[in-house]
Amino acid sequence: MKIAARSADVEFRSVTRRFGPVVAVDAISFRIESGSLVTLLGPSGCGKTTTLRMIAGLEMPSEGTILIGGRDVSRLPATERDVSMVFQSYALFPHMNVIENVGYGLAVGGGSRSEQLDKARAGLALVGLSGYEARMPSELSGGQQQRVAVARALVLEPSVLLFDEPLSNLDAKLRRRMREEIRELQQGLRLTAVYVTHDQEEALAVSDRIIVMSEARIAQSGSPEELYDAPATRFVADFIGGANLVPCGIRAHDGARAVVDLGGVALDMPHRGVPPGAATLAIRPHAINLHREAAAGRVAAEIRKAAYLGSHLEYTLSTAIGELFAVQPAGAAPFAQGTTAHVDFGPRGLALLRD
Ligand SMILES: Nc1ncnc2c1ncn2[C@@H]1O[C@H](COP(=O)(O)OP(=O)(O)O)[C@@H](O)[C@H]1O
Ligand SMILES: [Mg+2]
Repeated sequence: MKIAARSADVEFRSVTRRFGPVVAVDAISFRIESGSLVTLLGPSGCGKTTTLRMIAGLEMPSEGTILIGGRDVSRLPATERDVSMVFQSYALFPHMNVIENVGYGLAVGGGSRSEQLDKARAGLALVGLSGYEARMPSELSGGQQQRVAVARALVLEPSVLLFDEPLSNLDAKLRRRMREEIRELQQGLRLTAVYVTHDQEEALAVSDRIIVMSEARIAQSGSPEELYDAPATRFVADFIGGANLVPCGIRAHDGARAVVDLGGVALDMPHRGVPPGAATLAIRPHAINLHREAAAGRVAAEIRKAAYLGSHLEYTLSTAIGELFAVQPAGAAPFAQGTTAHVDFGPRGLALLRD
C-alpha cells in the first residue's frame, strides 16, 4: 500500500483573527501553491500559530476568507478540511505503541483493520521506522517520536500538511537532519506543506517560499533568495541573515541603478524603487571586505573585536559610518583587535531599503 498525496493550494483573502482586544492576525492575504512548502517565519507572538490553526480549522477567522483547493472552508470545522498537523510537542498517545499511534486517525476514519495496518506500516516505512511498530513512545528518542508524529499525519493523506515548530524540541544536529528528511518527504510526495518556525536558517533551508510575519501582518514574502538578496524592510533585512543597517544618501538614479553615497564612498547598486535622498542601506556581514591598505573607495575601520570561529572570523568594526559587524572566511591572515583595517563593500550583499 502506498501513501498518496492529494495536494491542494491554500489561499487567504484578507483574513483577520481577534482574541478580545488582541489582533493576532491582521487582514493577511497569501496564496500557497499546491505541492510547495511554504514557511511562516517571524518572532514569537507575530501570529504564525494562529495562521496555521486557521488553515487547520482549529481556529476560525474573525473576518476574511480561507480557500483550500478552491473551496471556501472559512467556516468548516477541522474534521471537514482534509488537513493534518504535526505539533511541536508531537502529541503522541503514551499508552499506545508506535503502530497504534500512526494508525489512530485511520481507525477513526474507518476502512478495514488490515487496510489500516498496511497504511500505517507504509507511513512508518516512509519515515524510516519499519521495525519499531511495537515500541512505546517512551522507548523512542526525540527524533524518533517526531518521525512517528510525521507518519501519523502522512497516513491520513491530507491535502495540506501543517507543521508548527516541529523541530524545536530537538538538539541542533538532529534538527538539521530532520528538516532535511521533512523536505525530502514533502518533495517526494509533492505535498502542500505549511511550516511554522522562528528560525530563519531553518526557513531558508527548507522552503520554496517564505512568508515573513511581523506584528500580525506579512512583512514580505518571496523565495529564500529574494528575501536574502532583496529584503524590503529593515525588519526583514535584520531578521533574515542579519544585516548592518546604515544611513546613506541616494545621489541619482540611472535606469535601474542608483549611485549611493556611503560615508563619502560612492557605490553603484539597484535602487529597487527607493527614491533619491536619505535612505538606509542593509549591508550583509559577509559584504564587508577587509584590506590592510587604504585606497580610494575604502573606509577606515578600527577593529574593536575579533573572534575566530573555525570556518570564519567575526569582527566588530568602528567606522565613520557607524559600528559594523563583519564576517570573513578563515584562511587569510586575521586582523588583530586594536589595529586599523580599510573596508569596501559588496558587490553582493547590499540592499537599499524603503524604510
Ligand atoms: N487563544 C488565545 N487567546 C488570546 N490571545 C491569543 C490566543 N492565541 C494567540 N493569542 C495571541 O495572539 C498573538 C499571536 O499568537 P501566536 O499566533 O501564537 O503567535 P506565534 O505563533 O507567532 O508565536 C499573541 O499576542 C498571542 O498572545
Ligand atoms: Mg507559535
